[in-house]
Amino acid sequence: MKILIATEKPFAAVAVEGIKDIVTGAGYELALLERYTEKEELLKAVADVDALIIRSDKVDAEVIAAAPNLKIVVRAGAGYDNVDLAAATEHKVVVMNTPGQNANAVAELVIGLIIYTLRNQWNGTAGGELSGRRLGLMAFGAVAQGVARIAGNGFGATISAYSPTGHPQKITDAGFTAVDTPAALFAGNDIVSLHIPSTPETRGSIGYDLISAMPKGAILVNSARQDVIDEDGLLKALTERPDLRYATDLKMKQHEHAVELLGERYIFTAKKMGAQTKEANVNAGLAAARQIVGFLKDGDTTYQVNK
Ligand code: 3PG
Repeated sequence: MKILIATEKPFAAVAVEGIKDIVTGAGYELALLERYTEKEELLKAVADVDALIIRSDKVDAEVIAAAPNLKIVVRAGAGYDNVDLAAATEHKVVVMNTPGQNANAVAELVIGLIIYTLRNQWNGTAGGELSGRRLGLMAFGAVAQGVARIAGNGFGATISAYSPTGHPQKITDAGFTAVDTPAALFAGNDIVSLHIPSTPETRGSIGYDLISAMPKGAILVNSARQDVIDEDGLLKALTERPDLRYATDLKMKQHEHAVELLGERYIFTAKKMGAQTKEANVNAGLAAARQIVGFLKDGDTTYQVNK
């Protein structure tokens, strides 16, 4: 059996070594395709593989069709909106994610973005503090729980959250305040951090009405997905409200325009960096390798997302 790691944004070397140990220890072969720039390279590399480990790499119907031996794809990470689940199911390919494995890295990045933004990007002017500010979390999965713990218990921010999946008790059980609607979350917090996945329901769901209702001086933080934002609505709200700021790990589609329009009120990372730590790469990468071995040897489908 041949397992391919296909990562446009590579794992840390230590994670690749760990994956190799697991794969070869199980008697399988490991192949590596890193930093590829053309889809053609991926199509060629998957031609004879049985299993695939990816990150945000796009696995669409064409990629799946180009891999006749493919049995399983594991997205080493949480969000699997980059995989065509219908095409995978049609070809009897199991798709899994590795939930929670890189959550701490993303939560720490969110805290970093918040502090950097509150301190005016260290530009020498008087900034603000997270302590005592109201931080609202849009969804309460593994990353949001980490942000709540660090910002609430560590920094002394006042934490509230909205559960779009209808589980407010998870929020209250963790000792934080559950709010009933997204509108209440946005209107009642100095900082709102997005933790929703990209789904047909969430795409474009964060727009003008929510953002323009935020309190004076508010900050919107996005470490989730670029496409959950309605960019026209965001740009309209921030044009009308020069006190608002947008800090993101996902550059906008209208990036150049936003830079020109918003200047320092648009804070962004060079590339998607949330899960880009050695620790997160090891956690998610090794979990992916173990899940593949568990599936190929024992038929374990615990983390399957296209059941
Ligand atoms: C995830 O869904 O786990 C994160 O968005 C990480 O994505 P990455 O593996 O491309 O860094």
